Amino acid sequence: MRPKRLLFVCLGNICRSPLAEGIFLDLAEKRGVADRFEVDSAGTGSWHVGERPDRRAAAVARRNNIVLPSIGRQVDAQRDFEYFDLLLAMDTENLAELRSLGAPEEKLRLMRSFDPECAECADADRCVPDPYFGEGDGFDRVHEMLVRACDGLLDELLE
Ligand code: 4NP
Repeated sequence: MRPKRLLFVCLGNICRSPLAEGIFLDLAEKRGVADRFEVDSAGTGSWHVGERPDRRAAAVARRNNIVLPSIGRQVDAQRDFEYFDLLLAMDTENLAELRSLGAPEEKLRLMRSFDPECAECADADRCVPDPYFGEGDGFDRVHEMLVRACDGLLDELLE
């Protein structure tokens, strides 16, 4: 069976989706199932193409022993919607953007729909908030949400 292909998507591809990618890989490795997945991340915007993750995302990753392999890239609708099995949007804006680019509905998910804390939430409350312009502990909060969501996603994919 070929590995399941997952694409984590946010706006800039330097904060949330690189963290989601790194956290998912870390948790999959800890469960001994990393070889069952192929993961990547991308942004709906093009401002940060070619860039390494934001230094605050890199710092939270370092504090938690997570490797971030991402180099910023923009979603490539033609290739990505065909190639990947699941498109995991960080917030409802990213989700709407993927839809407007023609992403197949059956491949689209909101990342926090796998966070047990959001089990009863409406989609509008299932967002990983954009930490880019924020202050303080935004990146730590994003890290916590993504650990829960990646764990829930792994549970579901390994069922
Ligand atoms: P991300 O955060 O979508 O989590 O990577 C952002 C990074 C950059 C910008 C916006 C959000 N930006 O406007 O440059």
